Amino acid sequence: MEMAVKERFEELRKNALSDFPGMNGKKGVTIYVGTATCGRSAGSLEVLSSFEDILKTLKIEARIVQVGCHGHCYAEPMAVVSKPGWPPIMYGYLTPNRTQILIKRFFNEEDPALEWALGAIEENDMVPTVYETPRWSKERRWLLKNCGYIDPENINHYIAVGGYEGLTYAIEMESRGIIEEIEAAGLRGLGGAGFDTWKKWDICRDAPEFPKYLICNADEGDPGAFMDRTIMESDPHSIIEGMIIAGYAIGAESGYVYIRKEYPQAVSVLTTAVYQARELGLLGKNILNSKISFDIKINQGAGAFVCGEETALIASIEGKRGMPKPRPPYPANRGLWEKPTLINNVKTLASIPKIITYGAGKVSSVGMEGCMGTAVFALAGKIKNAGLVEIPFGTTLREIIFDIGGGVPPIIKTSNVAGELPKTIKRQFKAVQIGGPSGGCLPESLLDTPVCFDTIVDTGAIMGSGGMVVLDEDNCAVETARYFLEFTQKESCGKCTFCRIGTKHMLDILTDITKGAGAMEDLCLLEELAETIKQGSLCNLGKTAPNPILTTLSYFREEYEAHILDKRCPSLECKDLVAYYILPEKCQRACDACVGSCPTEAIYTRRDRLKAIEQKKCVKCASCMDACPAQYDAVVKISPVSELPESEPRYDNPPY
Ligand SMILES: Cc1cc2nc3c(=O)[nH]c(=O)nc-3n(C[C@H](O)[C@H](O)[C@H](O)COP(=O)(O)O)c2cc1C
Ligand code: SF4
Ligand code: SF4
Repeated sequence: MEMAVKERFEELRKNALSDFPGMNGKKGVTIYVGTATCGRSAGSLEVLSSFEDILKTLKIEARIVQVGCHGHCYAEPMAVVSKPGWPPIMYGYLTPNRTQILIKRFFNEEDPALEWALGAIEENDMVPTVYETPRWSKERRWLLKNCGYIDPENINHYIAVGGYEGLTYAIEMESRGIIEEIEAAGLRGLGGAGFDTWKKWDICRDAPEFPKYLICNADEGDPGAFMDRTIMESDPHSIIEGMIIAGYAIGAESGYVYIRKEYPQAVSVLTTAVYQARELGLLGKNILNSKISFDIKINQGAGAFVCGEETALIASIEGKRGMPKPRPPYPANRGLWEKPTLINNVKTLASIPKIITYGAGKVSSVGMEGCMGTAVFALAGKIKNAGLVEIPFGTTLREIIFDIGGGVPPIIKTSNVAGELPKTIKRQFKAVQIGGPSGGCLPESLLDTPVCFDTIVDTGAIMGSGGMVVLDEDNCAVETARYFLEFTQKESCGKCTFCRIGTKHMLDILTDITKGAGAMEDLCLLEELAETIKQGSLCNLGKTAPNPILTTLSYFREEYEAHILDKRCPSLECKDLVAYYILPEKCQRACDACVGSCPTEAIYTRRDRLKAIEQKKCVKCASCMDACPAQYDAVVKISPVSELPESEPRYDNPPY
């Protein structure tokens, strides 16, 4: 006789627990190295082999586990060292060399090298915990709970920390009961629009046609966003478990994960996870010996941003060109292969197991009215602690950017005098771009806005899927709007004239303004075009494309005016409106650092032997500015270009 669901699961869990080292060192020395994409790009694979070498050299018995990303990308490469007798300690900014020293000190001298430690990850009375630092203390982790703590390629780790338990509860529930639990949790789609998850599920469940399909939208095309990728690379089974539960709730037996091809590690980790889940009977026919059957296919997209739009995504899976279609009919009624189809974002689906396991009340105990639970943001741009954060809805933008993100980092300039300290140049916060290319640019005065789908929309931006790019005083608002519009314009599928031609027209106007060739009438024209593009476009790519322009126009209008009226870029970013100049009173005539750095040989020696820049040859790469040592700081940018002082003529016979 076949085992019942609970018994079968208990058997899996027992196995899993014996395979999971845990973080507390009870099963001996374990070293967890973060090797998700962000860790790898920071050199974590070299750190990993350095750990292997030193442990072998010192003959230390240890288990090395490759984990995903904690979200603390600013401190990569990272590792947690779990040694009996000590709390597990997290280290950041590792290098192969530091790794060797760390292990020698920790294991030979019982000195945990706390100067490289971010903190302990368990309460103890020896080492302060990471949770006491501002970067961690405001976070509330649900979705990212397992990220960086388990091996994503070992299903046993996921099961050992409570994974697939929600599925066993769901199997015993009525499908309607599951949807009610999701409703009680107040879960809103985390892919951007914030549509009530339960409503979509309900429509799909009630749709009379069969078969039904489920799609996990893992396209994540927004520049600066990497939340979905991190979850896929760090905790893939949370998505798979969420998909099985969602599939059961709506009556679907097949699901697709639509991932862009540019995410090879996510594709590989998820493929392994699907295979392992199938092996254990958690995917396929009669899951855990129940009546439920569900399986998953991984579908790789070619990386078009528009394919994140649900009707375009469906067309792409069907093998057609990824172009949006008018809605209704909505996919929940008529989607993939004309059948009822539920599409949810990675984070939405990864939330499901937690809701079912811990109950709606627990999940919705944080957040604010209308937005319960937590939100995940990817902090990028001019921010000290770049990476992922998960905060309760209702946390303000200021708390996210300054308390958690650490604010805008200064520029550090080194000196060429031995022993002289580097110079620290502070930068001011200017704006935050939320919601990716369809989002908006918000100034300092709006930083006390609590984060929620509705409050963010009120500012003119959108939540989007969680991209947050911080800009400082060196970023120009007009150039930022131009940059995002260039992205949407290139990604427009071309189906609607307003989107195809309208965005091109807006881009041309913005480009002219950044070159000092704009007119004041252009500002009204931009507003008019924005309105017609919003109204005339079929999908949200076109409808939201004007947001970066409209928000910068309303919050940074004086910058547009300076570009148009004075041919001046106040942030000194727009290349056509700035010139580099060497201040004669500051130049230390013979240091020559700038000369060697200039790729176009634009720097010459003046008659008075100081250095100067031949403007016609200058390509404005800033190399000379970076090269000029901190103690002289002689290279400056000037805008408008008309204010550039005359320079002394060239010294005819320079000494080099
Ligand atoms: C141009 C465009 C790109 C989009 N890209 C994504 C994406 O990468 N991931 C995503 O989940 N949703 C994306 N969306 C939103 C989806 O169309 C859809 O609303 C979402 O996947 C629904 O899931 P949710 O209810 O869980 O949020 C995009 C929408 C548009 C218009
Ligand atoms: S709005 Fe733009 S991206 Fe959307 S369907 Fe129309 S042309 Fe394509
Ligand atoms: S401009 Fe700066 S780098 Fe160039 S010679 Fe003068 S001090 Fe040296």
